[in-house]
Order: sequence, then C-alpha cells, then structure tokens
Amino acid sequence: MLITRHAEAAAVLSDTRYVPPPVRQDGAEGTLAWLRARVSRFSAGETHARRRHELTGLLAGLDPAGLRSAAGALTRQRGGDWRGVPTAVLGAALGVQDTGAVPAAAAGYLSGEESPQADAAVAELLKLAGVPVITLLLQAHSATEGLIETALRHAAPGQDIDELLRETLSQDPPLRATRRLDTHTGDEVTIDLVAVNRDPDAFDPARGHVPHLTFGHGVRPCPAPAHALALAAGVLEGLLK
Ligand code: HEM
Repeated sequence: MLITRHAEAAAVLSDTRYVPPPVRQDGAEGTLAWLRARVSRFSAGETHARRRHELTGLLAGLDPAGLRSAAGALTRQRGGDWRGVPTAVLGAALGVQDTGAVPAAAAGYLSGEESPQADAAVAELLKLAGVPVITLLLQAHSATEGLIETALRHAAPGQDIDELLRETLSQDPPLRATRRLDTHTGDEVTIDLVAVNRDPDAFDPARGHVPHLTFGHGVRPCPAPAHALALAAGVLEGLLK
C-alpha cells in the first residue's frame, strides 16, 4: 500500500502495529547484516525502546551549536570540499577521529545491500567505536549529505540558510520514502514523503502550517533533527558566507 496523505502517514507512524520491515538476524559477526540486526532503526518493541534510549543519551551530550560552528570551520579549512565534513565533525564529537570507513558502510545501511566493501567498512568502524556510536554515524551520513546537496541546488544569493534548509526538507526531502510492515495483515506500507509533505493540495487558507514528516513522526522519529540541521547549516555557512 502506498500512502500519500499527510494524516494517514502520521497515523501509521504513530501506531506500534506498524514496524520497520524486519532485517535478517543471522549475519556473521562484525558484518553489515550483523550490525543491522543490532540497531534501533530496524528493531521494534522493547528492544527498540532500549536501543533508542542509548542513542538519545549520546545525542544529549552533543551541542548542536558547537557542531554547526565546527562544520563551518572545517568546510572553510578544506577550501569548500565539504563531502565528509558533517560525518567528520559528528565523529570527532563522539570520539571517533577517523570516519573514512563511514561512507562505504552507510551505503548499505538503509538498503541492506551487502558487499565485501560494506562488511570491511563495518569491521573497520567496530575497531573504533561501539554499535550505538556507529549507528549515529551511519544514520547521519547519507541523509545529512543529501540534505546539503539538495539545499545547494536551491540556494539563491543572500538566502537565509535556516529557511533554505526548512524548505528543502519539506519540498525536496533527502529521504523520499519510508516503509513499514503492518503486523496485523502482513502488508507492506510505503509512505511517500514527497507527496505527504505536499498534501493537502487543495487551496485552504485556514490550514495553517502543516509540519513536514521528513524527520519521521510518532513512535520513532529521527532523534537528531537539531543535530542534522546544525551540521548542514554549518557546511552551508562555510560554503556560502
Ligand atoms: C537531513 C538529515 C536527516 C534526516 C532527513 C533524517 C531522517 C530520519 C528519519 C525519517 C528517521 C526515521 C526513519 C523511520 O523509522 O522510518 C530517522 C531515524 C534516525 N536518525 Fe535521522 N535523519 C537525519 C539526520 C540524522 C543525524 C545527523 C543523526 C545523528 C546525529 C540521525 C540519527 C538517527 C537515528 C539514530 C535514527 C533511528 C531512530 C530509531 O530507530 O529510533 N539522523 N532519521
């Protein structure tokens, strides 16, 4: 089932009957599959609550304003070569100095596409950090770089960076869809975030501000929207100001 209406998407994301499609649990230790079986993102119920709690604890120790200025400074220091900057800044804040293996591991993290490169990258990261810190780095990497890349396409001279990011998240989101399994029927549900963020299309002056669902909603929204925005804004400041 494909969901394109805002209210319906918000209802699904708020209902524990819908869970992330399960991932394989039998991956060899230290591989991408093994990691995916251990993270908050792909778990449900009590396990999800426990794993998510660990992540929010780590995130609470990070200061978004500090991430923003560090991302701006590193972008300038690298002469505008911003790829890898958000991840390097987040890694340093989490105590991981070498984040070179993150892109290869992140490439298969959401899709589940396994490869020797992704497994080697996960093994590399496990030498440097535990699963919760690695989870944060992998969740953050592609989404934050995707947001920056899209925002740069929409940037106009003199534009307010926070407004640019807000509009990009709402109208041209880096994550286009998210999926759930309906545990009552066994059906898979896909939420089309682009359509949902633009719904309702009808002209309605009384509607007021409809929040975008790009950071998720309900039971398991992104726990780090402030961190994501800070990293992206810092890079854009380093590039545009
Ligand atoms: C533009 C940037 C980002 C976007 C659009 C984004 C969006 C999302 C969304 C939609 C989810 C929920 C997925 C779902 O269950 O369907 C999610 C989960 C998550 N995000 Fe983000 N995210 C971004 C950046 C970040 C950053 C920078 C971090 C870490 C510092 C982060 C950490 C996480 C974690 C740990 C989860 C899993 C939460 C859980 O399973 O309970 N994200 N993100």
